[in-house]
This record gives sequence, C-alpha cells and structure tokens, in this order.
Amino acid sequence: MAQFQSSTREIPVVKAVPSHIAIIMDGNGRWAKQRMMPRVAGHQRGVKSVRNTIRHCVELGVEYLTFFAFSSENWRRPKDEVSFLMTLFYSALEREIEQIHKDNLRFRVIGDLAPFDAKLVRLIRDAESLTSANSGLTFTMAANYGGRWDIMQAVSRMLEDHPELAKGFGENDLSPYLAMSYAPEPDLFIRTGGEKRISNFLLWQLAYAELYFTDTLWPDFDSPALDLAIKSYQSRERRFGRTSEQLHPLPNNA
Ligand code: IPE
Ligand code: IPE
Ligand code: MG
Repeated sequence: MAQFQSSTREIPVVKAVPSHIAIIMDGNGRWAKQRMMPRVAGHQRGVKSVRNTIRHCVELGVEYLTFFAFSSENWRRPKDEVSFLMTLFYSALEREIEQIHKDNLRFRVIGDLAPFDAKLVRLIRDAESLTSANSGLTFTMAANYGGRWDIMQAVSRMLEDHPELAKGFGENDLSPYLAMSYAPEPDLFIRTGGEKRISNFLLWQLAYAELYFTDTLWPDFDSPALDLAIKSYQSRERRFGRTSEQLHPLPNNA
C-alpha cells in the first residue's frame, strides 16, 4: 500500500490549493434556533452546504475532502436528534449516491460503524465499493468517529497483525492502520459555528494542519466562505519546524 508523507517525519509538498481539507460542520442547531425552527431543520439544511462544498472543492482542484458528520460523543444528544441524524444520513446517501458516482467522486466513511443499523452499514459499504475505482475527489464522512478511537483501533489492529511490535513500534508501523491511511494528512482544517476546538476529530492527522475557525454557521457556509478559508490558508507560512529564513534564503551576495 502506498504510504503518504507524514508531516512529523518528512516535510510535505505544499501546494497553493490544499490537497486535503477536513471540516467540522458546526452550528446547525443555532442556525435553526435563530429561525425559530427545530434543531433538526438545521441538519437538514446542512446537507446543501455539503453538496455545495464538494462541488466547489472539485472546481478548485482539492483532492480529498473530509467532513465530521457524527462524533463518538454525539450519542449523548437527545434520542430523537440522534435518530433524525441517522435517518438523514441514510436518506441523503441513498438519494445522492448515483450523482456522486456520476461525478467520479470516491466515497468513504471512517468511524466505528458497529452500533449503526445494519441497513445503513450496507448502504455505506455498497456506496464505497460502487465508487472505489473513481479517480476524482475523495469525499469522506466521519461517522461515529473519534480521534482517540482511531488511534486505539489502529494500535490494536497493528498488534493483532504483528504481535512482535508490542516490544516497540514506530509511526510507519502504525500509520497504515489509521482510519484515513488512504489519504494524505489534512492541509487545512475548517470549523464553522464559532467554537475554537477540535472536539476529538482527526487528532493524529491534524498534527501540522493549518487551523481556520469561522463564525459562519454550517448551513450558511457557501463558496465565498470557502474561498475566504483558502485565502487565509494561502497567507500562512507552513514551516514544519524550520525557520522562516530557511524557507526564504537570502541570495548569496546579499
Ligand atoms: C453540528 O451542528 C452537527 C452535528 C454535530 C451533527 P450542531 O448540531 O452541533 O449545531 P450547534 O452547535 O448546536 O449550533
Ligand atoms: C463536533 O460538533 C462534531 C460534529 C460536527 C459532527 P459538536 O457540536 O458535537 O461539538 P462540541 O460538543 O460543541 O465540541
Ligand atoms: Mg455544535
């Protein structure tokens, strides 16, 4: 399996347009509340922002786009909201999968699917295999995902395959077992909804991501909002531990 560069072991290639964008879509409940609507109306409206963000990322040449749809902590929400989110995931995927395939997108889900309804798991696995050979943008949904779960499941699967590594192992041993081993690490992390936290999203993979936080609520996140995030990304100096002078050496005779 091809291994992607790790930002803590090698200096990754930095392009003007991020290769991988990871998004915490937050603020759906508040969007609905502002409109005197039930919280779930915000989730429903959020699907439109997902569709639009994918389309715009394809236009921009982004190769990997990852959304946090449901965290391992979101089970703590009221039962009705959790079951609405599950139904919404099912119906949106069922409705959109043909178009996703026609658009040459590769669809993946990361997270612990064990507690999900068998019908939803089947739909997800079918959608993944239908689109697995597509060559366009890889669109990932993180569902029942937690960054700590990811690291722990990777360690256990690695040790199951290689018990001898219990004596000691390195990053390169572990990385093929992480949930996003098929993608490079995110270059840009976006969180909508105003909170400035990672909420147990891709803890390992975000080691050197550029972090961008916006007050815009997820249902309002449109193409100009994404352009602003990318503009902010392009203004950053990604040093990966080096000094600014090393990145911009003065000419010899200066
Ligand atoms: C994010 O929006 C969607 C999920 C967590 C599924 P929220 O539902 O967290 O919206 P706020 O933060 O309450 O506004
Ligand atoms: C993070 O949003 C999870 C998702 C967007 C799926 P939350 O709204 O659940 O995060 P906290 O609880 O405010 O940190
Ligand atoms: Mg929230």
